[in-house]
Amino acid sequence: MTTPKPKLAIIIGSIRPDRFGPTPAAWFAQEAERHEAFDVDLIDLAEYELPMELAGNDPDAELPDDVAKLGKRLSKADAFVLVTPVYNRSYSAVLKTAIDWFYGEWALRPISFISYGGITGGLTSIEHLRGVFPEFPAVTVKNFISLPDFWKLFDHDGKPVNSEGLRVPAVAVLDELVWWAPMLREARANRPYPGLDFALAADDKPSTLEPATV
Ligand SMILES: Cc1cc2nc3c(=O)[nH]c(=O)nc-3n(C[C@H](O)[C@H](O)[C@H](O)COP(=O)(O)O)c2cc1C
Repeated sequence: MTTPKPKLAIIIGSIRPDRFGPTPAAWFAQEAERHEAFDVDLIDLAEYELPMELAGNDPDAELPDDVAKLGKRLSKADAFVLVTPVYNRSYSAVLKTAIDWFYGEWALRPISFISYGGITGGLTSIEHLRGVFPEFPAVTVKNFISLPDFWKLFDHDGKPVNSEGLRVPAVAVLDELVWWAPMLREARANRPYPGLDFALAADDKPSTLEPATV
């Protein structure tokens, strides 16, 4: 029996009209298909209405529909790539909202980033995101993609002007994520992580605030 491929969720972290986010996300999804290590799921946060008003303290309260739907999708992932704009030197509010709705969906998964912006390429967004994920904990990996002056890097059809050049960091990200993903999947299933006060999410099983048993 062949082992199923790990699953990679690529998340578009901007929801503005006329946004650029889908362009690098779609490009990277194609690169991930070409790389062949992952089953790829391209998730657009614009398709979900995530309330900024987060859940209260009742663990039995029902989640809003779109939060539950997104949570199911995230829980299947073995690795993430967050595609982030830079708004006033940091990442988007919708990404923070999406992060804060979930716990076990992020936990013990590897995460990389694609940022885009002006001269900085949105690098400050990545650095700010790296400060968040130890909380779950999730592993933010070494490699990332930063796209300075992004409007020069893709043509009107959304194709990179320099496909070969941009493939280099894409492959580095994918190679690194696929080193971590199966190992952490196995660890999530078999090795209880010390000190978690929520259950890990696995496949279709959303996280809960019960002690970890998965
Ligand atoms: C509220 C806001 C703040 C921004 N702040 C920055 C910034 O600090 N640095 C930067 O390089 N670009 C900044 N930009 C420009 C964005 O990089 C550019 O609009 C980009 O297209 C945003 O991504 P999106 O189109 O996917 O939403 C900002 C844009 C907005 C809307």
